Amino acid sequence: MKFTRIAMPAVILAMIMSGSAPAVHAQDQDPGPLPTHVTDTASVMDIPAAIPTKASPRIEALLRRMTLQEKVGQLTQAAGGRSKTLNSKLTPSELDRVRTGKVGSYLHVAGAEPLRALQKVAVEESRLRIPLLFAMDVVHGYRTIFPVPIAIAASWEPEQWHHTASISAVEASNSGLHWTFAPMVDVTRDPRWGRVVEGAGEDAYLGSIMTAAQVRGYQGQSLSGAGTMMATTKHFGAYGAPLGGRDYGTAEISERALHEIYLPPFYAAMQAGTGSYMTAFNDIGGQPTTGNADLINGMLRARWGFDGMLVSDWNAVAELINHGIAGSRADAGTLAISAGVDMDMMSLVYANDLTKAVAANPRLMAHVDNAVRNVLTAKERLGLFDDPMAYHDLAAETANIRAAAHIVAAREVAERSIVLLKNSDNILPLAANAQKIAIIGAMATDVQSQLGSWRARGDKTEVISILEGIKAAAPEGSVVAFSAGAAPQSPDESGIPAAVTVAKDSDIVLLTIGEDYDLSGEARSRSSLALPPSQLALAEAIFATGKPVIVLLTGGRPLAIPEIDKNADAIVMTWLLGNEAGPAIANIVFGKVAPGGKLPIAFPRTTGAVPYSYSEYPAGRPANPDPVKDSNRFKDLPITQLYPFGHGLSYADIMISDLSLSSTTLSPGGSIDISVKLTNRDNRPGDETAQLYLRDVVSRQAQPKMMLRGFKRVTLQPGESRMVKFTLTPEQLTYYAKDGKWRAEAGRFDIMVGASAEDIRQRGSFTLSEGVESAVPAAAIATKTEVK
Ligand code: BGC
Repeated sequence: MKFTRIAMPAVILAMIMSGSAPAVHAQDQDPGPLPTHVTDTASVMDIPAAIPTKASPRIEALLRRMTLQEKVGQLTQAAGGRSKTLNSKLTPSELDRVRTGKVGSYLHVAGAEPLRALQKVAVEESRLRIPLLFAMDVVHGYRTIFPVPIAIAASWEPEQWHHTASISAVEASNSGLHWTFAPMVDVTRDPRWGRVVEGAGEDAYLGSIMTAAQVRGYQGQSLSGAGTMMATTKHFGAYGAPLGGRDYGTAEISERALHEIYLPPFYAAMQAGTGSYMTAFNDIGGQPTTGNADLINGMLRARWGFDGMLVSDWNAVAELINHGIAGSRADAGTLAISAGVDMDMMSLVYANDLTKAVAANPRLMAHVDNAVRNVLTAKERLGLFDDPMAYHDLAAETANIRAAAHIVAAREVAERSIVLLKNSDNILPLAANAQKIAIIGAMATDVQSQLGSWRARGDKTEVISILEGIKAAAPEGSVVAFSAGAAPQSPDESGIPAAVTVAKDSDIVLLTIGEDYDLSGEARSRSSLALPPSQLALAEAIFATGKPVIVLLTGGRPLAIPEIDKNADAIVMTWLLGNEAGPAIANIVFGKVAPGGKLPIAFPRTTGAVPYSYSEYPAGRPANPDPVKDSNRFKDLPITQLYPFGHGLSYADIMISDLSLSSTTLSPGGSIDISVKLTNRDNRPGDETAQLYLRDVVSRQAQPKMMLRGFKRVTLQPGESRMVKFTLTPEQLTYYAKDGKWRAEAGRFDIMVGASAEDIRQRGSFTLSEGVESAVPAAAIATKTEVK
């Protein structure tokens, strides 16, 4: 069998081979010294005037009693521990800081009891008795750990996000926490970026729908309600567009791209009621978002109408110095607070340098007051002024952690997140008869990895591994043999011959390869999307046995796997699935559950093919499949993706047919219904996701080739048919025009309905009778969808 190994850049290779890739979160390392600066320009800085925000009479009264020192204390968020050693910094001297009003919020803390003790100090021993705000990165679970976000997005079911976020909120809020740093909603078209694992992929519409579901899931009906917590929609700006995919890097993007691609999920979050936002670390065209008054106070607050709270990212206020837009810490604080950043996470600039800045520049005081109002209002909305101990009931904490229903949900969402990428000759699901199954690959037992990049209080001993899951579900009489072969980040390939022996002695191989948890996430961008070398070597050796091979691919990002696509009989993208990874994967492999996940971001053929999106502008010479023609393509690659956006197979043969439109014309104020029929022509149940794409055929500004504007995942029994109806309004057709308005021009719009962006099954068109204008990002508007 011919098998080519793709070369990895030497540096990455060296890092992986030496096993030196850090296994700790970026924050747990020292940030390193900041540059020393000579000028302090805070006094001369021309800051924008503050537009006073409103707060309740109770907060206004409190504000009047506060000293400047107490005010900046409220704006200060400190770490009560490290991400992996929660509460470890809550020393006696830290408690003194609480007593003297120097801290308004803690992160990296947890637990009903320890946080009760801490809260007691604030509300009983500090002068103004203002309660503290407790926060944590509860991103895809608190103790019950769900799949990583990119995986949940692959379910294409906002209901899954809503449900899992609400469970996370129940577990976390009963453990003393008020506030989560989630959802992470950064759209990215570059999977080299390590944080692709934390978001919903490449698409603004899919991202917006998933965002709104999460915000509603965390926050419930009311922030002060039982079992809810405040969401932080992050990282506001264009954090998902760093140049070259290098984390923290500059976003060199157009105004249109900012508004049409990166900002819609943030808008959707606001409409869903997000209580807070976090600003991005990076800059947009040289303007760091943490100091960007136009974007925060100008757009988010004044134009969009957001009235909640904004927190910086970790140390990001001080890092305005590194960006080179502040000459000193006081300068950095001046820029951030006058831009609209209310709370300073971890840089202590507000705590230590803002008083000096206010003395030099009294106009700053109004900004400080606004920020204090926003922070105190958040505390008030959470119910903390009425009952600061509501979150600290030990019995409720114990009863809710890993409640039976939470584990059921973890398994269901894991099953629904799995994407079947390839299935030659319907080799999957495996037959129900006994056979000799070889499970090869270290990822089959790597329970730590299944917890993903934000494990919160997840415990690896509560993860069911892939090996355990397969063993438990294999048909009676089957023999399941395991060999680790090689681990993703280890240079040690000495286990491969033993794995080959196990594979040779089997009827079928389940090859578990891919990335482990530490190859994606913050500060984990990769210059290569190829499989780690050990994983390729293992795959090569196993394919050479000639046995049928089903690849269970793991990881938090799209991978360029042409060799695997060529040689594997089936490929299942299993991501990093949380506590119930093993049973979920086994249920798919043995056909107890039908796979129906769809990719929220394309898998490229090679690293050089990114960044890419199905939704780019068409170009004057649109990509042509014929390489001889000069067109918008690579000469050495087909114009298609290895697995396109929206791709995911089913075990059943499901047809999409009978497209019909309620009218051929859409007028301002009206709507149009687009219906298709889904039919299961198979003798087994299956899922299909009808995906509605739109194209504005002629407009004075070029329009994307396709834009997702609706989707619905449907489960169909054998022989069953169902109708899916999407209702579009003219506002959903608009683009971000040069005058800052959302506009659509009259004319023809094409619609496409398919099973992926490259598998369009039905086409139609309608005419917009007149131009329309709107104030809302088009991709943030949810399409009304009905299934009959
Ligand atoms: C990350 C944020 C996170 C914060 C607190 C930062 O390094 O960028 O996403 O919420 O740390 O843990």
